Amino acid sequence: MSGLGPLLQRGNMLVCCGSGGVGKTTIAASLAVAGARAGLRACVVTIDPARRLADALGLETLPNVAHRVPLDLSDGLPSGELWALMLDPKSTFDALVERYAESPDQAQRILDNRLYRNISGALSGTQEYMAAEKLYELAEEGRFDLLVVDTPPSRNALDFLEAPARLTRFLDNRLFRLVVAPARSYLKAVSMAAQAFVRTVAKVVGAEVVDDAVAFFQAFEGMEEGFRDRAERVDRLLGGDGTAFVLVASARKDTVAEAIYFTDRLVEMGKSPQALVANRLHPRFGRDGSESLTDLAASDRARADSLGEDTPLGALYANLAEFRQVAEREDEVLATLVEKVSPAPVCRVPYLEGDVSDLQSLERVAQILTA
Ligand SMILES: Nc1ncnc2c1ncn2[C@@H]1O[C@H](COP(=O)(O)OP(=O)(O)OP(=O)(O)O)[C@@H](O)[C@H]1O
Ligand SMILES: [Mg+2]
Repeated sequence: MSGLGPLLQRGNMLVCCGSGGVGKTTIAASLAVAGARAGLRACVVTIDPARRLADALGLETLPNVAHRVPLDLSDGLPSGELWALMLDPKSTFDALVERYAESPDQAQRILDNRLYRNISGALSGTQEYMAAEKLYELAEEGRFDLLVVDTPPSRNALDFLEAPARLTRFLDNRLFRLVVAPARSYLKAVSMAAQAFVRTVAKVVGAEVVDDAVAFFQAFEGMEEGFRDRAERVDRLLGGDGTAFVLVASARKDTVAEAIYFTDRLVEMGKSPQALVANRLHPRFGRDGSESLTDLAASDRARADSLGEDTPLGALYANLAEFRQVAEREDEVLATLVEKVSPAPVCRVPYLEGDVSDLQSLERVAQILTA
């Protein structure tokens, strides 16, 4: 097996990242299929798959629980196991609160808090953090040989990587500490400035919202340590040797620019993308370049004219030349990114006729990824 085959190793975790809509969910699911086909017990942790794909993976009913997806083994080839888990950030967050609360009562106070209920699913970065968190939990359990994680549809591919550090920063935040402080020392520790700040915020957003917020932070008292420790461990897991980043991009200038930026940031963190998947490319028919095809079209037209013939060959060559030109332009757009991730392997996945939303088409992409 070649292509991305070498990445499908026991104990590896593959993180599919890239900008919105490039095909992260599709490639993640296909890599898990490829892993299962390579004999591994592979699990894809997916986020927000299109409905038909969720159906195909049997994900409609049970979020946050991994379940087995039957593969069509009619080709008689040996196979491992395919598992899929649809991430539900809110239940992951709830489970974390329950784990780190000092008592069931504290957990309940947080879970019932209006602010918590509003932000636990929607707060910027929560989805990303919870994806990393769930991955950590699955890695710790050691039930699977290969974990493939799809990252959330963020505008910025970096959100996923930065989420654990952001949570840690939030917990270290001075304002957070000041708001939490009253529960510890009954207002004595709150500076005048913090009180003035809270009063100003209350005027803008309403006292009720502020009360909710204060109650929320107070309810978290004593839990920061657990959360911070966990966020640091998640961070270490993502930075560790067993985690490989698979960059997914399309041949568009904006997604390429973002992928280059993302690669730079990974390098700053001492990591680099281990593979690039250039998705939804136009097909390359034949070996001839567009220039020689254009020449062929012209000479055939000239030949047909001189003989007074009316053949479609020249027009067909011209059409092929145009297709080729599109593919060449895609190559040009991707060139800097390919160079940037070098020596990581680059896998080109063509534009398939239909949506990649059933097991059959995932198998097809899996074959392309490992061909
Ligand atoms: N190679 C391909 N050929 C044809 N269709 C594709 C291909 N790859 C992905 N698609 C389709 O493109 C759409 C977007 O893909 P996908 O959901 O995997 O992207 P994503 O990066 O996960 O998006 P988001 O950032 O919103 O999560 C889907 O409908 C998928 O079926
Ligand atoms: Mg997606």
